[in-house]
Amino acid sequence: MENGTAVLAYSGGLDTSALIPWLKEKYGYDVVACLIDAGRVKDIPGIIARAKAAGAIEALAIDAKEEFAEHYCLPALMGNALYEDKYPLVSSLSRPLIAKKLVQTAHAFGATAVAHGCTGKGNDQVRIDVGVRSQDPSLKIIAPAREADWPSREELLDYVAAHGIPVNLTKKSPYSIDENLWGRSNECGVLEDPWVAPPADAYQFVIDAKDAPDEAQHVIVSFEKGKPVALDGEAMGLVELIEAIDAIGNAHGFGRVDMIENRLVGIKSREVYEVAGSLALITAHRELEDLVLTRDLLHFKRTIESKLADMVYEGQWFDPLTEACKAFLFQSQERVTGDVRLKFYKGTCVPDGRRSDYSLYSYKLATYTTEDEFSHEAAAGFIQLWGLPIEIWARIGKEHGLMRELSDEGELALET
Ligand code: ARG
Repeated sequence: MENGTAVLAYSGGLDTSALIPWLKEKYGYDVVACLIDAGRVKDIPGIIARAKAAGAIEALAIDAKEEFAEHYCLPALMGNALYEDKYPLVSSLSRPLIAKKLVQTAHAFGATAVAHGCTGKGNDQVRIDVGVRSQDPSLKIIAPAREADWPSREELLDYVAAHGIPVNLTKKSPYSIDENLWGRSNECGVLEDPWVAPPADAYQFVIDAKDAPDEAQHVIVSFEKGKPVALDGEAMGLVELIEAIDAIGNAHGFGRVDMIENRLVGIKSREVYEVAGSLALITAHRELEDLVLTRDLLHFKRTIESKLADMVYEGQWFDPLTEACKAFLFQSQERVTGDVRLKFYKGTCVPDGRRSDYSLYSYKLATYTTEDEFSHEAAAGFIQLWGLPIEIWARIGKEHGLMRELSDEGELALET
């Protein structure tokens, strides 16, 4: 068409299906529809057929599961990355990968533009746009869903029907859903009232904990240099392993997260997530780190972890700081090799055993039995020096009448 070709990030849903004729009619682009599968995409042939029916000159599905697992989920796991201490960054992690695939596809097809269906008040638009720009700033980015003339849902249904696009019109989900290997994000509908408990249909994978088995299930997760490599001794590829542990968590009612989060665009939103696999792996990974890393490394690493989570959430995957955080994390994983036993029971997942050749735990130092090898005599001298600064502070304070007295209740009595 007059403006050439645009590569569209296509999901097969109502909005991106409508975008195919929309980009042609309103923007003058031929459309290459690009379905990027980072896990959990069902009926790929059906989605491809729909894109073609909608008028795409080409429709392709890219299997990006392996790449997503190895290069996005794994660094996030090494960083125990949870946005606001709760959300394992399901959608946030996939957006830079989608951006990268859009750029690659645009180059392969000689396209001059990329397009996506993100709205103007979400985080996803930021992540995709910044991701595309960081790789090829010459590509035009078209995002019609954030323009004023973008139709309402009802109008969109009429629009696709008029264009003969076979979207499933009967199943009108009130939710906005995004799924991949690392979990499932769900927002909108009744969830927009933060006081309303998520209805049963808000969750699709994690069963209600009250329906979970009465028997606990134990699973041993084995790690090599921070990477999970086996479940119960059975070696698995990363994709397969994430899927397997996710299924176990789902069946035990573990992995529902219901939260208010702070979006990058300045608003608070209520989201529910199903993240059994990612949360279980983070739980196990953190547990192993506690066994094999030094106190200082563990404590400092938390700063990097929280920075990484923010960088990912805020669309800065391709920023050099993210690269530097990842380099730190990889370096920190040299000895994170060993096993963690997880216990799944009625909506919970807790570690109840851990072992490693690199364990820094010493029975002879920790025990209170006769085998104790800890130097109790050394403790007194250590404490004397450890407490020295505060002791001097108190002495000088007393000399100047500045010391606060403890009240009878044991509270510090503040002088006014
Ligand atoms: N709030 C989450 C995030 O920003 C999930 C966004 C999911 N996108 C969606 N279209 N439902 O990462």
